[in-house]
Amino acid sequence: MASTTKLPSLPPVSDTEPSRCILDAYRISIAKRVSEALPPLTIEQVYNGVDYGKKGVDFTIALPRFRLPGKVDELAKQVTEQFQADDFIASVTHDKAFLHFQLNTTTMIREILTQIHNLTHNTESKQPEYGTNSSGKGKKVLIEYSSPNIAKDFHVGHLRSTIIGAFLANLYKACGWEAVSMNYLGDWGTQFGLIAVGFERYGSQEELEKDAIKHLFNIYVQINKDASEDPDVKVEAAKFFKRMEGGDEEALKNWRSWRELSVKKYEAEYARLNVKFDIYTGESQVGQEWMDKATARLDEMGLIDVVDGAKLVNLEKWKLGKAVVRKKDGTSIYLTRDIGGAIERYEKHKFDKMIYVISAQQDLHVAQFLKVLELMKFPWAKDVSLINYGLVQGMSTRKGTVVFLDQIIREAASVMHEQMQKNEEKYKAVENPEEVSTELGITGVKIQDMAAKRINNYTFNWDRMKSFEGDTGPYLQYAHVRLASIGRKNPHLLPLPPPSSIDVTCLAESAHAREIAFLLGSYPDVVKTALKNHEPSTIVTFAFKLSHAISSAWETVVVKGEEDIEKARARMWLYESAREVLAAAMRLLTLRPLERM
Ligand code: ARG
Repeated sequence: MASTTKLPSLPPVSDTEPSRCILDAYRISIAKRVSEALPPLTIEQVYNGVDYGKKGVDFTIALPRFRLPGKVDELAKQVTEQFQADDFIASVTHDKAFLHFQLNTTTMIREILTQIHNLTHNTESKQPEYGTNSSGKGKKVLIEYSSPNIAKDFHVGHLRSTIIGAFLANLYKACGWEAVSMNYLGDWGTQFGLIAVGFERYGSQEELEKDAIKHLFNIYVQINKDASEDPDVKVEAAKFFKRMEGGDEEALKNWRSWRELSVKKYEAEYARLNVKFDIYTGESQVGQEWMDKATARLDEMGLIDVVDGAKLVNLEKWKLGKAVVRKKDGTSIYLTRDIGGAIERYEKHKFDKMIYVISAQQDLHVAQFLKVLELMKFPWAKDVSLINYGLVQGMSTRKGTVVFLDQIIREAASVMHEQMQKNEEKYKAVENPEEVSTELGITGVKIQDMAAKRINNYTFNWDRMKSFEGDTGPYLQYAHVRLASIGRKNPHLLPLPPPSSIDVTCLAESAHAREIAFLLGSYPDVVKTALKNHEPSTIVTFAFKLSHAISSAWETVVVKGEEDIEKARARMWLYESAREVLAAAMRLLTLRPLERM
């Protein structure tokens, strides 16, 4: 039977949470020993120097970082000589300036799997919580992402913003923050005058209700063509937009329904992507008073130059050019709306942090915008940040260029469907091929997008996206499905007994099992790292590493056919824990882990 040793009670260390990250407890325990051997080092100081070890080593400390007087060799000896193994830390070795620590395999595996179990099944929230932490407790973050323009195309840049932003919202929530997600629609500007004129010529209420996004886009294309042949169109459009800006109800009536119907359509498509917004706002929603207040404050602070009737802020000192905040005719522009909008958001939400997920193509705009906020000396300006990302090339469907989000989703689904049909036998066994292929397709697109650092440009590749081999979305789903199938294939082992009565000694004998368990234990750290670097690739890399470790264990750590029931159950517990953690990572990445395919 399994023993029930508990980790010795440990002193508190800031930014640690052993009840959610058991490796914190191990690190504290190591830090305690080292600080006791090497006064005057404190536990906290040592803790910050406990790193993951290179292959085959659990944790490593580089002694020189503490800048202690005396020879490193002797310091290391002081630690190794005083060291006494216990049920948790098995050994320390010394190699030049490094101390290497190994954890007791049996207790490590048991502690990690038990923590995963408890934080999956026994939580107050009734939601799986393994991997979460409470570092953001009591804090609020506003995250703006996606932000397409009504009546214009939804391009891959918007897709990237959507994918990355939704991930960040999940990530902040997982770290205890209250995260408010916002979609800031391009729903204002002179083009709406054009669409109004176009709607009179080509609009149809029926088409609008069927698919507002498509219909308005088509009208916009047509009326732009008209405008290039007939200058009167633009004049008429400008007049119309002026009426809209003046608040003319008659002029605003259609616009309002276009916006509403477009949002409705978008909501359905976002739902398909497992993406949701708390707030649909937009350029039209920025209150005039906030923009006026902003310009007034800039004026007061002497930051405004008037050139040819236009108001601008000189940012040349920071190599950011001259930023126009008010046009000659008094109308606002993109930048004005962003400045006013930020102030309004702060006043309404009192956020601790605000994030804009916007393409690196707009870096100059955002840099100007952030610089202006800083010059205006808002104390919260330092809490506003940009998460940018590179370009995607080559995202077109077989029919041509992508202009709508639903084209991307449909193409991904159909590419995947064809791929699945290639394996006739397997395909026949799938109950709901449409659903599965859509989910796989979406996973493929998202993983390709999140696999590398955000700022990298990449070329979209349908062949790579649909492949079940290599580090692809379908491979990840497959890894999850395979884990999920263990229970279905071994019903005689279910239900698993409670953790305290599962004997993990057989797992400790397998290097594969040990590696998997330790990786699972590191997941809460991976989440914290992602929160620091805002890189979805941190989580993607972890998910693949875990999948690979699992796939190399299949042959030696077998469940089906293992006659020793105790052994089979311990292994099944390991795989089930791995499934929980893989699923948690996938959900964080906005994916829906599949049970079957
Ligand atoms: N609608 C803009 C575009 O498609 C993106 C908006 C980004 N957000 C912002 N606050 N400027 O280019």
